Amino acid sequence: MSKIFVDACLGKETPYTPVWMMRQAGRYLPEYMAVRAEAGSFLDLCHDPKKACEVTLQPVDIVGVDAAILFSDILVIPDEMGMDLSFVKGEGPKFSDPLKTQADLDRLIGGQEAASKLTYVYDTIKLIKEQLAEDKALIGFTGAPWTLATYMIEGQGTKTYNICKKMMYSNPELLHNILAKVTEVVKLYMEKQIEAGIDVVQIFDSWAAAIEPSKYDEFSWKYMVEIADYLKSKYPDIPIIMFPKGVPAFIERGLVYGNFDVFGVDWGTPMALAKEKLGDKYVLQGNMEPCRLYSKEATTACVEAIQEIMGGKRHIFNLGHGILPDVPVENAKHFVSECQRVSGKK
Ligand code: CP3
Repeated sequence: MSKIFVDACLGKETPYTPVWMMRQAGRYLPEYMAVRAEAGSFLDLCHDPKKACEVTLQPVDIVGVDAAILFSDILVIPDEMGMDLSFVKGEGPKFSDPLKTQADLDRLIGGQEAASKLTYVYDTIKLIKEQLAEDKALIGFTGAPWTLATYMIEGQGTKTYNICKKMMYSNPELLHNILAKVTEVVKLYMEKQIEAGIDVVQIFDSWAAAIEPSKYDEFSWKYMVEIADYLKSKYPDIPIIMFPKGVPAFIERGLVYGNFDVFGVDWGTPMALAKEKLGDKYVLQGNMEPCRLYSKEATTACVEAIQEIMGGKRHIFNLGHGILPDVPVENAKHFVSECQRVSGKK
């Protein structure tokens, strides 16, 4: 049976425009909170294939999206490379020993050895594939090397990125060495996700906007393209979605290149600009501002506006970044059903 989401990613005509939401498996769902409480902590949940499978499937059943996204986190990669990850309540992710020197980097596990430690992710994928309806797709994902490196260098989330940017301008060689080592692990990690059964790959470059446009290719995009090239050479039929958040100048100057299928448009980039610059070459995904989900009227207006621009062609509906934890479930359902209404799903 064909999957409408996969067909749409590959640019084939579909009976309606598929829809999913970034961070759709998460805290706005009471059912998620219940399973997380049972698991003990967020990381325990990531490490438990049965429970991770359950929360992956929740938004498909409850909200009616066309694709499930694997429940995990981008930061399990540096965790298994030997950086000690924890989630401090209310403060987000923390690494106790951020990378400062080449010697710190040399101590990390790389390549196949690191990728092989993420067995709980591959086990989760296998379980999901047993249970997911045949017409729905499973999206696997990774963080882009740059976004992962920001946490590995800063030790936590940051508003200024001053530590990694200091490295970018005063010791670019070390930053490139970090990015290259992470890229190697990510290639093998995504290959193993594909072998375990994912249908589509998404690469999240959530902190792309931290890099000035003239440096974006050198410190992030080229590594994402390297990962895409590697996967495409082995698995040409698995669609790849690139999501660099906050790079309108990079798009406008025509600097986007690479062998992938779908470009994820963030909410700060006008869909019409993305269509003009990228729409012939790539399928576009996005891009409703997630905070519109607080209002059904604001949601409907945006869904209609996006449909007007894209015309139901070479498009996947999504938010322009992740759904927030305090969005009413009813409003998330409204978004999905409005996308289906305007694009003609019976
Ligand atoms: O539904 C899905 O999208 C699948 C699961 C998923 C999570 N994280 C679960 C999660 C995915 C795809 C991610 C990716 C992720 N993780 C990104 C890139 C995507 C983006 O939104 O830009 C980033 C930057 C991270 C790192 C991360 N993980 C942070 C900064 C935080 C804390 C901030 C927050 O939102 O609380 C997390 C924790 C996290 N990852 C949660 C979930 C459901 C919340 C944990 C909880 O249950 O308390």
